[in-house]
Amino acid sequence: MEKSVDAAELPELISEAAIQRRVAELAAEIQEFYGDEPPLLVGVLNGAVIFIADLARRIDADVRFEFMAVSSYGDAMTSSGAVKILKDLDSDIAGKRVLIVEDIVDSGTTLQYLLRMLRERDPKDVRVVSLLRKPQARESGTDPDWVGFEIEEVFVVGYGLDVGGKYRNLPYIAALQTD
Ligand code: IMP
Ligand code: MG
Repeated sequence: MEKSVDAAELPELISEAAIQRRVAELAAEIQEFYGDEPPLLVGVLNGAVIFIADLARRIDADVRFEFMAVSSYGDAMTSSGAVKILKDLDSDIAGKRVLIVEDIVDSGTTLQYLLRMLRERDPKDVRVVSLLRKPQARESGTDPDWVGFEIEEVFVVGYGLDVGGKYRNLPYIAALQTD
């Protein structure tokens, strides 16, 4: 039988308190930026669920949210390179301000695809907030407008992020040792 990793064995990379502090800062910046025209938050399932829930509750404005599901990683830790829509938005975003809420930007493939697709629908504008950003993302040319934390090239889990569906419910971010 496959040996499962105990969450207690995973080294903590970003604490729950640090995440909560940063999410509050991001919320304040976003609220200030949009003023009296709050955006539609578009959460990217499943990874951004915890982040969007915390972020939305910190924004004191009429923010609504919807979700999209795309697949690029499947169940593995290596990108397949292809992005596919598994669930689309329910509403028409034409003329609206849209803020994509992502868990992490790695190669930038997912984000590039989402941006291209949503821009074709003529929203007023589309911006991006990502909780985490890996080094590779900086070279991809699709930079999020707001980033919570810059992290090294390490696979992380927790606070919505998973490996094979596991660890999304950890309240902190942990590095997954793969050796
Ligand atoms: P990208 O298309 O390479 O930028 O990958 C973005 C997606 O891959 C994210 O939305 C995550 O779902 C997943 N991903 C990338 N790095 C990690 C990680 O370290 N842990 C968990 N998921 C990751
Ligand atoms: Mg994701």
